[in-house]
Amino acid sequence: MSKTIILSNRLPVQLRISEGRIEAIPSVGGLATGMKSVHQDGESLWIGWSGLTREETPGDLEGDIDKALAGHGCLKVSLSREEVDGFYFGFSNRTLWPLFHYFMEYSEFELANWEVYEAVNRKFADAVVEEAGEEDVVWVHDYQLLLVPEMVRQQRPGLSIGFFLHIPFPSFEIFRTLPWRKEILRGLLGADLIGFHTYDYERHFLSSVRRLLGLEVNFNEIHLEGRVAKVDSFPMGIDYKKFREAALRHAAMEEGEESDLQRRLNLHKASTPEAKFFLSIDRLDYTKGIAKRLKAFEYFLQKYPHYREKVRLIILAVPSRSKVPQYRRLKKEIDELVGRINGELSTVSWTPIWYFYRSLEFENLIDLYTSCDIAWLTPIRDGMNLVAKEYIATRTDQSGVLILSEMAGAANELHEALLINPNNFEQIAQALDQAINMPPEEQAARNAPMQKRLERYDVEKWAQDFMDSLLAQKKQDAPYVAS
Ligand code: ADP
Ligand code: F6P
Repeated sequence: MSKTIILSNRLPVQLRISEGRIEAIPSVGGLATGMKSVHQDGESLWIGWSGLTREETPGDLEGDIDKALAGHGCLKVSLSREEVDGFYFGFSNRTLWPLFHYFMEYSEFELANWEVYEAVNRKFADAVVEEAGEEDVVWVHDYQLLLVPEMVRQQRPGLSIGFFLHIPFPSFEIFRTLPWRKEILRGLLGADLIGFHTYDYERHFLSSVRRLLGLEVNFNEIHLEGRVAKVDSFPMGIDYKKFREAALRHAAMEEGEESDLQRRLNLHKASTPEAKFFLSIDRLDYTKGIAKRLKAFEYFLQKYPHYREKVRLIILAVPSRSKVPQYRRLKKEIDELVGRINGELSTVSWTPIWYFYRSLEFENLIDLYTSCDIAWLTPIRDGMNLVAKEYIATRTDQSGVLILSEMAGAANELHEALLINPNNFEQIAQALDQAINMPPEEQAARNAPMQKRLERYDVEKWAQDFMDSLLAQKKQDAPYVAS
């Protein structure tokens, strides 16, 4: 029987060793949370990095680690500390991530990191080659593994290979600044199907292929020697049912069954019934616009002082990539901003910002989604932003307002939200004011069509569409004859 091999840097669980015992923690991030639902339902093997370096892995626990991962349908690619530094913290997150999100000034072009990136991509490709049967389908994910499709193709030309990019693909003018731009494009073109979240990312990619490699592009097909690679957009969905059902369970909870967090939220709501909670949830990442959001909140409270003591911003920032200097600096900036704004504006009965720097259990995420009147998600640049979709899915009574950056891929599908430019504080302040005063009927009228759309095109449908398209592509893959 054929299976799907999913390949990504992050596995759905991250391993840690605590007091000689292995702990498996669910991974955070769109790729892991989205693909987890697909992996659970299907016949698949997921290959990736366990989150532990070789140096952190005691030899006598190797077997237990493999067993723990096998329990989740996963297989590890083992990486040394040096490899993780060059490949993950280095080329992936100090070169590609900033460049692809238009933070050119953060992007470093280090030959040594590129070489490690290439070598680690080869390791992932070799792991696939070892595991894949003739009929298997290989699905490679994200910017950490851009070279893998071609590396697998060279060794196993007959395999069906798909690739999906979970972050934006930048415009040609940005992408061309990368010294290894052609190698990256050739790496991707090893796939039969290359998927992006939006049509814009797809267009940028095709433009780079045309201009940098001089290849013939026919609509969304690229003609290569002996085969055709297809490019298409597949906006990633969420596990709508899971979020909706969790929210319904949550609503049906008896008194005393709530979490501590929910109890606290309820207490505050009861003491000031007219108060509104704004919710902001992201990995702590400079692309998410968290520092700007804090400054915009301060601006809003200056412009509309009558909202002081009536609104509260709940910021949840998940620790991420803290070995990269920009992330450490950002953490410091956010700590200082929260401290300053709270210090300047708090009263004895009101703290404007509640700030959590941690990962939360799924049930606590649901507490926040369902308790907050307004979700305020304003990335400066974001491939998709699944949090926005999750918030809408949990609003089972159709109340709630989503304020969303137009720079997030999700804005294409969530156009009934209040869409704002994250750099325009005036517009943001007005959107917050509008959200606070939005009549319930208008909230429902905006949320209902978004919910319908999210339900119809959920993560399962997304994966199925991608797979169907990949298999169809493979079938029609006859040698191309130029007319
Ligand atoms: P990214 O992939 O850039 O991190 P997304 O918004 O697309 O951004 O995806 C983030 C995912 O991580 C969502 O599925 C969300 O539920 C999950 N998540 C975000 N914050 C937390 C948290 N504090 N604890 C657990 N999971 C979280
Ligand atoms: O969704 C984009 C993404 O970069 C994934 O590739 C990644 O798994 C996730 O965000 C979280 O980042 P990281 O794996 O670096 O913790």
